[in-house]
Amino acid sequence: MIKTAILGYGTIGSGAAEVLEINKKAIAERVGEEISLKYILDRKDVSGDKREALVTTDFEKIVNDDEVKIVIETMGGTGAAYTFVKAALEAGKSVATSNKALVAKYGTELMEIAKAKNASFLYEASVGGGIPIIRPLYDALCADEVEEISGIMNGTTNFILTKMAKEGSDFSEVLKEAQSLGFAEADPTDDVEGYDAGRKISILTSIVSGKQVNFEGVHMEGITKITAEDMKYALVLDRAIKLVATSKKTDKGYYAVVSPVMLPDSHPLYPVNGVFNAIFVKGNVLGDSMFYGSGAGMLPTASAVIADVVNIAKNLGKHIPYDWSKEELKLLNYEDMTRKFFVRASGEVKEREKEITELFGDVAFVEAAGIKGEFGFVTEEMSEKDFAGKYDKLNNKITRIRLG
Ligand code: HSE
Repeated sequence: MIKTAILGYGTIGSGAAEVLEINKKAIAERVGEEISLKYILDRKDVSGDKREALVTTDFEKIVNDDEVKIVIETMGGTGAAYTFVKAALEAGKSVATSNKALVAKYGTELMEIAKAKNASFLYEASVGGGIPIIRPLYDALCADEVEEISGIMNGTTNFILTKMAKEGSDFSEVLKEAQSLGFAEADPTDDVEGYDAGRKISILTSIVSGKQVNFEGVHMEGITKITAEDMKYALVLDRAIKLVATSKKTDKGYYAVVSPVMLPDSHPLYPVNGVFNAIFVKGNVLGDSMFYGSGAGMLPTASAVIADVVNIAKNLGKHIPYDWSKEELKLLNYEDMTRKFFVRASGEVKEREKEITELFGDVAFVEAAGIKGEFGFVTEEMSEKDFAGKYDKLNNKITRIRLG
């Protein structure tokens, strides 16, 4: 019997305990022996919980127990979670985590410790929740050079944008609704400002490049400035506004960006709605592929965490090399990326056409029914830097959104 401990008995931690219980028999058959839960580390009052007897507040008890071979970290954050995971790995235990902040910030160090100890540090649930993406990148796609990863990697913002598009409501209104339904955190900053997606794309870029990416270097813009009017223009253009995290390989290196993007209806990410996530991967030999599913939530995320536990259990005493090197990957400046842009400006097209074409060159003007006193236009492809210079000079502008 292989013994485990869960650190953090919140949504994902209790889901992990549940998955171990629900699929106990199938997991035992796959591993060749049973996986059981010996401890749960948590400070909250769990009186009456069916696993009350396993709960402890003493991490030392777990780290010093040689029977515990696998630690499941579902606490979140980079404080105690980092201290405990590091100590567990140093004690020779393997770790499965759902914590993207931990992986983005300390992944490189934790992988190195795991390797030195012939243990493993696995993190499938840290990106895309229950969607398999990390293992496919390491294993199934190991014959490819991955040229692009573009994903809807945040369920909260996708839920908000989908509702805004369907109901014509404003960001703040839908955010409140998402919070009351439990889809958005009380403090939604990480999600709505794009930091959560930024951590996820930095992890995926580290995997495909084989080098450490500092998440702070990813250019991140969130969805707080997207309005009901923007959605109306998107509809006229047969596009959907999505928060897209992209990593692109070029001859010079990698770009990594998170921002709202207007996607055409031909794009595979266009129909991904609600809390669902999807990750589009383009390989140089595979071509296009897409991974779609539940990017968050108790059981889907726990499914990925326990899949890592099973993988570790089958490889006890060995290091599973889902690692990248400690060499830093300097991301290319996103300002050199090229694309088309959608712009909204005040006034009438006929009065401003000359000024706008002089500034931006050929553009396609757009008007949306019911929106008065303004218009939109789509530029030709240009670099972010060129666009920013022109946009800066534009009078009476309202907003701009990238095209995908
Ligand atoms: N807050 C995240 C989301 C949870 O909304 O997708 C999963 O990482």
